[in-house]
Amino acid sequence: MGETFRAVKVTDKVYWVGAIDWGLRDFHGYSTKRGTTYNSYLVLSEKPVLIDAVKKEFAGEMLERVSSVIDPSRIKTIVSNHAEMDHSGSLPFFIDRIKPERVVASAMGQKALSDHFHKDLGITAVKDGQTLDIGGDRLAFHESRMLHWPDSMVTWLEGERVLFTNDIFGMHLASDRRFDDETPDWHYEAAKYYANIVLPYSDLVLAFAKKLQALNLPLKYIAPDHGPIWRKDLSSIVQLYLKWAQQKPERSAIVVFDTMWGSTQQLARALSEGLSEGGVSTKVLPLKSNHRSDIVTEMLCAGGLFVGTPTMNREIYPEVADVLTYIKGLAPKNLKGLAFGSYGWTPAGQNNAAEMLKAMKVQPAGETVSCKYVPDAAALRAAWEAGLKAAQAIIRDIPDA
Ligand code: FEO
Repeated sequence: MGETFRAVKVTDKVYWVGAIDWGLRDFHGYSTKRGTTYNSYLVLSEKPVLIDAVKKEFAGEMLERVSSVIDPSRIKTIVSNHAEMDHSGSLPFFIDRIKPERVVASAMGQKALSDHFHKDLGITAVKDGQTLDIGGDRLAFHESRMLHWPDSMVTWLEGERVLFTNDIFGMHLASDRRFDDETPDWHYEAAKYYANIVLPYSDLVLAFAKKLQALNLPLKYIAPDHGPIWRKDLSSIVQLYLKWAQQKPERSAIVVFDTMWGSTQQLARALSEGLSEGGVSTKVLPLKSNHRSDIVTEMLCAGGLFVGTPTMNREIYPEVADVLTYIKGLAPKNLKGLAFGSYGWTPAGQNNAAEMLKAMKVQPAGETVSCKYVPDAAALRAAWEAGLKAAQAIIRDIPDA
């Protein structure tokens, strides 16, 4: 074992012992342009605790960081807050290496870990609210089901006032700095994480916020498993979660499209000019230059979703189908919009996209806009007017911020 990777002190008793994945650019379909971290934590109580592990390939890095503070064999408990492989991939390695007295997870976590590794890891299930004396301090486990997996839980370290929140309040952001006040450019990455991972569970975010409020924990640190540890600006991220979870739309819109020969692009530009003219702040997001995960980030606070697709073989253009499928899975609420685009023989692509928007409960902000082959001045004017009318519908129904 080398001596390259060191732990980072969070409090007198808590150390960050995770791993930095500088090169990650794809996290199950989510573009991670700035890499990520897998945060794990060592608690130096009388009976030391390891909270969460890292992706399998980073086990060596994590072990070195732990070993820079204590002999790993002194660790008595490993807590697994969440079974997804970015936090549990190296768990069997650590269990084998450390041979702790206990490994704890939620009941759903116990099952999920067993379903992942197909062997008995000796996991003890803890109940919601259960506590564990770790010698000189105490852990309390609180389920956070479906934030964002059924097994998810958070762990509270009472004396040090640290809440280990796993994926909640996290973001994909690789850095050599560990704390929020050292990484001030976090906002976009936090929004992107929410939009791509947490959005479908927004109602549960609100319920979890109530649960936290009822627990009345005197939070001093929020320590998630990705990105910075919150030690300065805890209320900012908590308030942003409450805002994003409410999904109150703003007077803004995104125009997402792909194009075969430029016709749908012309329509997108005309429609977006109409939206802007009508007072709606509009972003045009061509799929050739915007990743789906950035598109949903831009959608997070928007009131309008406008989707442009050419018709290809009587279907939605494949790249547009991709982003629509992705958006559908994230189940955004309170959007208005319409489909538009160019066709040759039949406007099936636009009609299918309109059907998908309907299935996603996007309220129509006007009729589908379609144009045969190449738009002429009249077709562009019609797209502009459709944008203007859609803007009027958005302005009518969405209060000014
Ligand atoms: Fe970071 Fe759901 O794993």
